[in-house]
Amino acid sequence: MNVHITGTGSGIPARLVANGELAKTLDTSDEWIVSHTGIRARRIAGPDESTATLATAAARTALARAGVKPEDLGIIVLATSTPDYGAFPSCACLVQRDIGAVNAGAFDLFAACTGFIYALETARSLMLRDPRPALVIGADVMTRIVDWKDRNTCVLFGDGAGAVVLQASDRPGGLRDSILRADGTGSQHLVHEGGCRTPESGPWQKATLQMQGRQVFNFAVKAFDETVRALLAREKLTLDDVRWIVPHQANIRIIEATARRLDIGMDRFYVNIDELANTSAGTIPLALDQMIREEKLHSGDTIVLVGFGAGLTWGGTLIKW
Ligand code: ACO
Repeated sequence: MNVHITGTGSGIPARLVANGELAKTLDTSDEWIVSHTGIRARRIAGPDESTATLATAAARTALARAGVKPEDLGIIVLATSTPDYGAFPSCACLVQRDIGAVNAGAFDLFAACTGFIYALETARSLMLRDPRPALVIGADVMTRIVDWKDRNTCVLFGDGAGAVVLQASDRPGGLRDSILRADGTGSQHLVHEGGCRTPESGPWQKATLQMQGRQVFNFAVKAFDETVRALLAREKLTLDDVRWIVPHQANIRIIEATARRLDIGMDRFYVNIDELANTSAGTIPLALDQMIREEKLHSGDTIVLVGFGAGLTWGGTLIKW
């Protein structure tokens, strides 16, 4: 049995905030943000928008494009670091309710910016037991957990959700191989307090993200490069066989540094960080959906998705489209 992505969708907030708007209240500039990150703008969720509402919008589009009815879904796996509620109910249950997936199981998965890669492999594995279609979502409203007074971090993030529908098929290709990795010894490099470990920091909404940017940068480049090489080696492929690398969109300079290490051109990487910034678990499915809409993906293309983030976590998925 092969598992294919048969539909994609996006949920992005209406409000676009360009760098210049941030510079009105923060000691920063469009020039600094663009030159250090590649980011020009981000979407920021309004009062009526949340991880679950953006995820639901993305899910509805993905299901419609796949031609799958909500009641036919077997499982919903939603990757997020910013669930609507502190612990429960899960965001996946809110999506399940709102789309009417009355026959599906649903749960959230936490792997920070690598969440979509983890969710994709989890859903694929579950489909080996129950081959009904699966809905996989990466969704975050990072702007609700950043410290808006910390120019080192707040300029990096945006809000958004991407969704894909997975369907079992005899057609060759699909999700071919995955690597999931973690190294908790680096957990202090990227932290959002507010859990039971730090009750003094209050409920999670009051805590803010803290990041050691340089350490995360160095980890990301190494993890990115190693994941691509390992997946290709396992599948007995070379970089020449790969049409697109679709990376987590954290910083254009991480992608450029990896391109140099892999000795390939930037034209082999799909990049949309300039307009959406880092939407954490959302970046990879949002990129896939944009690529479909731009007709950049064709049947038979080999692509590699790569994620990296807090945990530390990292991983990749090789797909024959
Ligand atoms: N505007 C203006 N100046 C700034 C800004 C800003 N927004 N942010 C930092 N600076 C200043 C710093 O204060 C510093 O000033 P100083 O020299 O006077 O002290 C100077 O710019 C350089 O700062 P650095 O931290 O050295 O800048 P660097 O080039 O390393 O870029 C960055 C920082 C963009 C954070 C980079 O390290 C990075 O991208 N790291 C990876 C982040 C990442 O990938 N996160 C993803 C994971 S998120 C997740 O998993 C949930």
